[in-house]
Amino acid sequence: MFAQDVLEGLNEAPKSLKPKYFYDAAGSELFEEITRQPEYYPTRTEAALLRQCAPALGELMGNNVSLVELGSGSSAKTAILLESLLESSDELHYLPIDISKTMLTETAEGLDARYPELGVTPIASQYEPGLKRASTLVAEDEKVPDRMLVLFLGSSIGNMSPDEAIQFLKGLREHLEPKDAFLIGFDLQKDVGILTAAYNDRAGVTAQFNLNLLTRINSELGGEFDLDRFSHRAYYNDELGRIEMHLRANDAHDVAVQACNTAFPFEAGETIHTECSHKYTRGLIADMATQTGFRVREVFTDEKDWFALALLTPA
Ligand code: AVI
Repeated sequence: MFAQDVLEGLNEAPKSLKPKYFYDAAGSELFEEITRQPEYYPTRTEAALLRQCAPALGELMGNNVSLVELGSGSSAKTAILLESLLESSDELHYLPIDISKTMLTETAEGLDARYPELGVTPIASQYEPGLKRASTLVAEDEKVPDRMLVLFLGSSIGNMSPDEAIQFLKGLREHLEPKDAFLIGFDLQKDVGILTAAYNDRAGVTAQFNLNLLTRINSELGGEFDLDRFSHRAYYNDELGRIEMHLRANDAHDVAVQACNTAFPFEAGETIHTECSHKYTRGLIADMATQTGFRVREVFTDEKDWFALALLTPA
């Protein structure tokens, strides 16, 4: 629970907060705004890449496909792939998996209106149980193509630690048949200036997104964080190949949080670690695939080699 996680995270040394708490309504809107910032290249690079590789994916997957998307959100990027696959497929079914029921309903209604020929089965669930449900459905329902192309876009895998990512992929692998495939977005290692700029946009939207965690603690847990006494920090940790986001206390002070029944002491310059965003190489992607029971079929990249869409199949 939120209060328990805050209590544990702020009692740790160094202090940390879980990145999943970024995404309340305000945080989700701020994230959408981040994706429109000129410095934040991942979203538009991945969208262009999807447009570019959609015909090849259509050929690789054949005419009858069930497109399963983990963390579909508004399915904005997926529409690019759906449109291309609709042209090349006889039968296409879309199964978006998301924990937000509201988002799923809106998405399904929007898609029904836009693509009447597309079958849509929304699944409100966590990823792995959702994929399990999707795999059972495609195996049992004759009206749904039984070959799955599973999508995990947005380089969300980068927000997991390498160990978590391996456990996650192993878990998903169990629900895939040899004929299925998995398309994952990975942000690639690149010039440090480009990476750090993406998490320190000039308009300060990423800073607001990071600080919103404190606003959320204030409003939901009776916290007394003064946002003017904390600053956004994001830098590249070269050794671990990841961007790290932190909130830094500008001066020494204590912050009470009612729901935690305590006040947390901060030293001047002390930070709360709020997020890691791992950046990959082709080598790391291949190693991860091997360790989790997959084979790399194809790695699609943009011309600058900034982002990759890796198509994996069960080994
Ligand atoms: C959602 N995730 C892939 C984003 C990222 O780039 O790691 C979250 C984000 N954090 C700050 N900016 C964007």
